[in-house]
Amino acid sequence: MNQEHHKKHIIHRFERLILFVKKEEDLSFLEVGCGSGAVSLYCAQNYPFKVTGVDIDPRQVESARSYASKTGVEVMFLESDATNLPFEDESHDIVLSFGVTHHIRNWLDALKEIERVLKVDGYFIYWDLMYPGPLAAIGRFLSSTYGITTVKEFNSFLERSTLCDVHKTVKTSPVFGEVEGVFRKKNE
Ligand SMILES: C[S@@+](CC[C@H](N)C(=O)[O-])C[C@H]1O[C@@H](n2cnc3c(N)ncnc32)[C@H](O)[C@@H]1O
Repeated sequence: MNQEHHKKHIIHRFERLILFVKKEEDLSFLEVGCGSGAVSLYCAQNYPFKVTGVDIDPRQVESARSYASKTGVEVMFLESDATNLPFEDESHDIVLSFGVTHHIRNWLDALKEIERVLKVDGYFIYWDLMYPGPLAAIGRFLSSTYGITTVKEFNSFLERSTLCDVHKTVKTSPVFGEVEGVFRKKNE
């Protein structure tokens, strides 16, 4: 998939999922693993949100900043690790993460961080690839530095968390499945 096609694809996904969110003025929106910032920028251009994008890769952050400066849209891009976000507890109304957790070895820690920085009643918008059981076992055996994301562990995280489903679809396949969802943080 080329870059333009990828951008259209993720913005289409974003538009589909943001429909599940009750929108108000001045919501604080955080994208974790923003890459070159396409969704964050699109969001800042089209919604009345205060947008921040973080990514661990300084080159991605630089490219997102340069892209934003050409549009004149106000978005803050920061270099940060999803497993150690530089934000207060319950500081964001919406947190989005697309295609990131399968890049993070300790991906469940990133999900816990996202839950921590999300306000009560806030929304977590998520999409990622999921390994089927046999492939996950092989990946773990090879001690991959990638995140071995599985539906079972993702669901088990949700069950133990303060997040409840607003919308969730799970696709399974012998190669890679995926989970897409919008989750809302409830009071403990
Ligand atoms: C496949 S790209 C997805 C980028 C963007 N979300 C999108 O959908 O186009 C994965 C991104 O996650 C970032 N990433 C990987 N590990 C991370 C971590 N621990 N914390 C924050 N970002 C991370 C990578 O640098 C990369 O930009």
